[in-house]
Amino acid sequence: MDERFTLIIFGASGDLTKRKLIPALWSLYQGRTLPEPFSIIAIARGDLSTDAFRTKMRAAVTDFARVQPPAESVWERFAASLSYCSGDPKDPALYVRLGRLLEAHPNRLFYCATPPSLSPEIVTRLGEAGLARSHGGWTRIIIEKPFGRDLESAQALNALISGFFRERQVYRIDHYLGKETVQNILVFRFANGIFEPLWNRQHVDHVQITVGESIGVGSRGVYYEEAGALRDMVQNHMLQLLCLIAMEPPVTFDADPVRDEKNKVMRALKPIEGDSVDEFAVRGQYGPGFVTGERVPGYREEPGVRPDSTAETYAALKLFVQNWRWAGVPFYLRTGKRLPKRVSEIAIEFKPTPHLIFRREPSGVRPNVLVLRIQPDEGMSLTVEAKTPGPDLQLNPVTMDFHYGAVFGSGPPEAYERLLLDAIHGDATLYARGDWVEYAWAALEPVLRAWSDGSTAKFPNYAAGSWGPAEADAFIERDGRKWRRP
Ligand SMILES: NC(=O)c1ccc[n+]([C@@H]2O[C@H](COP(=O)([O-])OP(=O)(O)OC[C@H]3O[C@@H](n4cnc5c(N)ncnc54)[C@H](OP(=O)(O)O)[C@@H]3O)[C@@H](O)[C@H]2O)c1
Repeated sequence: MDERFTLIIFGASGDLTKRKLIPALWSLYQGRTLPEPFSIIAIARGDLSTDAFRTKMRAAVTDFARVQPPAESVWERFAASLSYCSGDPKDPALYVRLGRLLEAHPNRLFYCATPPSLSPEIVTRLGEAGLARSHGGWTRIIIEKPFGRDLESAQALNALISGFFRERQVYRIDHYLGKETVQNILVFRFANGIFEPLWNRQHVDHVQITVGESIGVGSRGVYYEEAGALRDMVQNHMLQLLCLIAMEPPVTFDADPVRDEKNKVMRALKPIEGDSVDEFAVRGQYGPGFVTGERVPGYREEPGVRPDSTAETYAALKLFVQNWRWAGVPFYLRTGKRLPKRVSEIAIEFKPTPHLIFRREPSGVRPNVLVLRIQPDEGMSLTVEAKTPGPDLQLNPVTMDFHYGAVFGSGPPEAYERLLLDAIHGDATLYARGDWVEYAWAALEPVLRAWSDGSTAKFPNYAAGSWGPAEADAFIERDGRKWRRP
């Protein structure tokens, strides 16, 4: 079979193509992991020559690629595979031209790097032009996030896609899943025997998943007004992390077994009832404040944001996975913008010892905590109690620490490198399946509905540079626990 593949990017003049896609493809090419030969057809509305497009991409690679452009000759070889095609993704005539262009290209990967509102249009036009079918090779499509904005729209998008493509052709990207440290969660859990016996309700007190950002919304105000933290972070990245922590071992590390196990977690989530949303969810919005010593504006003063906006820039949730392994163990999720630092981590806090023999230890014994750090400072740590040297019996927590950078050297591949390569090879393990996306929206639906009535939001309710609203502290402290300060 012909191994050549062709990547067709819709939205090739956009930010994603410039900052992520072409730099990732370049790094793969440099590392000799991109299957060859290949062609990349870049589509956007602007009138541009292929040469002009290559020059723009050369600059993009210089600015954003992990692997910098080396000898001109290597760039020239890569660039020779790039071509530009001017056209409007909404225009059926584009797809007729595309059909002709692709005649000698049996293996086709379409990429919707356009605003999400255009994906249905592109899927429909591809389907109507007969381009969703196989043409002697394979045909696949990558759809960017966000995938819908609630359960109904996600179901409608899935239904539309399935009218033209089979599920195994569809790759719903969540770039979080391509991160090395996220992939490592499964390796950590299922390639090490010693943690599995502890990974359950008998030993785990609770789990905290934090995705904090120190930046504000910046230039993404208009987008964020429609999204908010719940849609932007929780529905996709954070629920995926929860699944990786809570899932049972899949029978093999392949797309369907892994995704079947994730779905079981979603199906076991305790539903949040409409009248008890406040018991399980807290929202916030940042006001002005200081981040790393610098004065920053509040969310309502950011460009593109309404002065009375009720979009949440902070969300915290308490979820329960109702099965034998996790019954009664809370999973606390929190995410926010303008928090004191950028940090993504999962902390598994273990139960205390059943009986303490060190009666004279005044401060008590702190629980063991296992932390999987996703970014930055990727790594893992385990905190255990140790005796402080000296005549008295004093205990202190010490940390066993593993840093990716120190062990494997810096510069892990970008998430998009791995994900693009997987789609080219036909491996959807790290992509979201249609049913998972619907489960994720369904789980959040009551919260989205309750929060859509912004009139009850008392915003802003946390200062930029703080760890979120006081209500979020009260929320976890009601359970006798505290948020970590990573
Ligand atoms: N940027 C990122 O880092 C990033 C990260 C994660 C996910 N994403 C997702 O990736 C997708 C693309 O993001 P992006 O930031 O690259 O988007 P973008 O820059 O806003 O748009 C990409 C391109 O789409 C075309 N386009 C926009 N509106 C159009 C319309 N009404 N009709 C026809 N073409 C139109 C434009 O090309 P022309 O006007 O030249 O035709 C534009 O350059 C989005 O779904 C986003 O959520 C982006």
